[in-house]
Amino acid sequence: MTKSDKLWGGRFTGEPDATFAEFNASFRFDRRLFVADVSASIAYANGLRRAGVLTAHETRAVIDALNNLLERAAAEPRFFDRSNAEDVHSFIEAKLIAAAGDAGRKLHTGRSRNDQVATAFRLWLRYEIDSIDAHVRELQSALIDLAELNIDMVMPGYTHLQRAQPIMFAHWCLAYFEMLRRDRERLAETRRRVNIMPLGSGALAGTSFNIDRDAVAKELGFDGVSANSLDAVSDRDFAAEFAGACSLIMMHLSRLAEDLIIYSSNEFGFVTLSDAVSSGSSLMPQKKNPDALELLRGKAGRVFGHQVSLLAMLKGLPLAYNKDMQEDKEAIFDTVDTIGICLRAATTLIANITVNGEKMRDAASTGYLNATELADHLVKNGIPFRTAHETVGKIVLYAIGKNKELHELTIEEMRKFSAVIDQEILNALSLDTTISAKCVVGGTSSERIAEALAVAKIYVKNNG
Ligand code: ARG
Repeated sequence: MTKSDKLWGGRFTGEPDATFAEFNASFRFDRRLFVADVSASIAYANGLRRAGVLTAHETRAVIDALNNLLERAAAEPRFFDRSNAEDVHSFIEAKLIAAAGDAGRKLHTGRSRNDQVATAFRLWLRYEIDSIDAHVRELQSALIDLAELNIDMVMPGYTHLQRAQPIMFAHWCLAYFEMLRRDRERLAETRRRVNIMPLGSGALAGTSFNIDRDAVAKELGFDGVSANSLDAVSDRDFAAEFAGACSLIMMHLSRLAEDLIIYSSNEFGFVTLSDAVSSGSSLMPQKKNPDALELLRGKAGRVFGHQVSLLAMLKGLPLAYNKDMQEDKEAIFDTVDTIGICLRAATTLIANITVNGEKMRDAASTGYLNATELADHLVKNGIPFRTAHETVGKIVLYAIGKNKELHELTIEEMRKFSAVIDQEILNALSLDTTISAKCVVGGTSSERIAEALAVAKIYVKNNG
């Protein structure tokens, strides 16, 4: 790079050091903002025309040149190569000036790269949020499909990864649906704060040209303009917040992945992943490994790291813009790339699962998962819960000694522990009765699942 390539030639006499130039540059990665930055420049050119800075003729020349850059970038694979631009903004301005001359040299009037980068970054991120949201929605649909395909299947529910109480498999699917529903709410909330336009803030103090910021914002689809120029050029809350929303999505995906890794193990055998989404071992011929699930689990850490790196970068920065903030790009770019592929992979995985209903039913039928149900029946017969808990604990201990499940004990054996136990209670301990008893709102009974599924489908339809 030579002094003449730079945006600040006048003040400098010396040539930049090559290592400094390489260190300072961000074009290698921020070229991803090219379309967003050109779009913002087009809207800004119109703003300058309305402010009387550009004539209609000059505005036309600038906008034509900018549109031409968009076309060339789309058509020429090597358009961005061999440039020694410092960043995407100087790249675009240099090309614009080469094409439009003095009209191009006027575009930066009242504008700074500080408000420019914040604007382009937000514009770019808004599109990415919409695309991530669409991917989350597809995953929600896949979970609904999986639930419906296996609507009658039951499984053990776990706490501490110990069998706890029986649930419907669809209940498990819908648990993840709920997490993703909250994730989409968070994305939508984040989008509201992302979609505010900093342009017009200048370097930090605002601009003395009469730019109608609202009109520029409207042209770019922003919901509003920033209220304080000092804040606007130094605010990267939206980036940290977005990384936070993505961290929670990744945390959810990692839990989904972990459940499925466990359930697809030989020890559980609840689900089988199709060959299309499994890997083999280079050494052990018999192996079929859930690599994709493990990657989903592993990549969560990477996104969490980006959130932490953004917060650490911003911590203690004095107002307003500081070059530290250029570090926001790679963290967010990698967050976007990682979450995109993870969501698509998760959707594919969910569509490639076979559920082994018999295995799950067997597992749900053994291990005293109906003990709480028995205690509940004692309570319904007037026994205080704490007493019922103790009594059933003793029955379980007795049953373990006899190597029997609760429903395999005779009524006489049961009655030794509590006189209120009768045949009706014994019958109510079956797997299906235990599940259908959980008919409270949010519970696992088939009735409630059917309702929850209907609500879930409406949600997906209305939130497209
Ligand atoms: N490449 C810079 C960034 O990403 C653009 C803003 C530069 N502004 C400045 N005053 N050096 O943050």
